[in-house]
Amino acid sequence: MRIDRCVCTGRFFESLLAQARAEDLSLPQLMERTGAGRGCGSCRVYVSRAYRTGQTVFGELLESDAEPPPAEGDAQAATPAPAAAARDRGATRDAGG
Ligand code: FES
Repeated sequence: MRIDRCVCTGRFFESLLAQARAEDLSLPQLMERTGAGRGCGSCRVYVSRAYRTGQTVFGELLESDAEPPPAEGDAQAATPAPAAAARDRGATRDAGG
């Protein structure tokens, strides 16, 4: 599945994003000026995501513009637990002496 345009207006998200940047439009201004998101409304979440992230082609249905929360394993990998860091420092100190 490739989702890359507002079907009601025929405007590609890439084109909408380029116009928003060129004319320094807010998201509501972009929708008002182009009509994207103002027909059936199905593309609003994609236009919003494109505006926010720069992504203009989507391969899945989006129900919300919100970013999915990071996976639990990712959060742990990015931020070491304080207890583990303290334990590691202690082990190094003990090994030296
Ligand atoms: S698909 Fe964009 S308003 Fe209908």
